[in-house]
Amino acid sequence: MKTILVLNGPNLNLLGRRQPEIYGHETLADVEAACRAACAEGFDIRQAQSNHEGEIVELIHGARDTACGIVINAGAYTHTSVAILDALNAFDGPVIEVHISNVHRREGFRHHSYISARADGVIAGLGIEGYAAATRRICTLVGA
Ligand code: DQA
Repeated sequence: MKTILVLNGPNLNLLGRRQPEIYGHETLADVEAACRAACAEGFDIRQAQSNHEGEIVELIHGARDTACGIVINAGAYTHTSVAILDALNAFDGPVIEVHISNVHRREGFRHHSYISARADGVIAGLGIEGYAAATRRICTLVGA
């Protein structure tokens, strides 16, 4: 069984309760279910969430030996974290960056992403459906 790491950054533990007019009413449990349903045969997901930059770096390090690809929504660290970019650059498999909201329709500071310099694909504004699409894409890129 190949494992895809679905990694969520700061404040996403509050998904469903945090600014639902922007992020919707679905929760991280819904994200996990949607990603699992989107997996091709032979793939499974492991979901993780952290509010701490260093812990996200370490989760990515752990994925080097345990995951075939990463779906990442780094939350606000998307726009600030060279450390997360460097960690992703040390990961060999495909990486898909996800944002629930359309960051390009929001404040200017959300328009730049450090993660995009590494990501094989970027999805924004599809709500939690973006995670499922990202999971499917990783299955395609990794193959059977
Ligand atoms: C987000 C967009 C980021 O700008 C924001 O800081 C988040 C969530 C999204 O999923 O739309 O926390 O990554």
